[in-house]
Amino acid sequence: RYPVICIDGPSGAGKGTVTWRLAQALNYQLLDSGALYRIVGLKAYEAGLVSADASQPIDENALLVLTQSLDISFVPNNDSGRVDIVVNGEAVGEQVRNETVGGYASQIAVFSQVRQALLKLQQDMATRSGLVADGRDMGTVVFPDADVKVFLTASAEARAQRRVAQLLNNHQAADFDAILATIKARDARDENRATAPSKPAADALVIDSSTLDASAVYEQVKAYCQK
Ligand code: CDP
Repeated sequence: RYPVICIDGPSGAGKGTVTWRLAQALNYQLLDSGALYRIVGLKAYEAGLVSADASQPIDENALLVLTQSLDISFVPNNDSGRVDIVVNGEAVGEQVRNETVGGYASQIAVFSQVRQALLKLQQDMATRSGLVADGRDMGTVVFPDADVKVFLTASAEARAQRRVAQLLNNHQAADFDAILATIKARDARDENRATAPSKPAADALVIDSSTLDASAVYEQVKAYCQK
């Protein structure tokens, strides 16, 4: 099989930027596993299976049927520096990237059958070329024998601050306390779930990016890959 580099970690730690730059530099494919969970979350919300405030119990069978009905693929987009997502032949808009959909994603991501249904699609990506995989469980579950594993983290405050800066930069409103609370709620759900909880693999290099900028993180990861 081809080489696999796993970049795991919580929301807002800067995985997306590092993953994109590595994939470009090495000419590898990019697996944005979060986008898979986001798509399922969004479709489940549209089907009335998840509620915005996570109060509604989820019909696991219906969710599984829905997940299995989705044909998902990725197309790199050089303008946005991310992958575009195509579901059942239709491009999905930027909406899938917002925090509301991130919340839906983390609600459906707790179900082991949903995770199982997305597993093969993710693993198959490493059968075609080298791969940089971004997520929560790339190094622990999806590619346990990956060549390089990095767990990129940062304090919740630093991650909330970055999110605020990003929103302001896009001329959108940003409330630090509300964003911090949302980040902590999503972290708690991702870290405490029974299946594939978000945590560093035993053999991962852990990088705390709280006081590092994107370039410094990239240089550190690149140097580690070359070892
Ligand atoms: O970009 P950000 O870190 O905010 O989120 P993401 O990576 O797109 O992931 C959205 C949600 O999907 C996470 O909060 C997890 O609940 C879930 N997820 C997961 O369970 N496993 C993965 N490999 C990737 C994402």
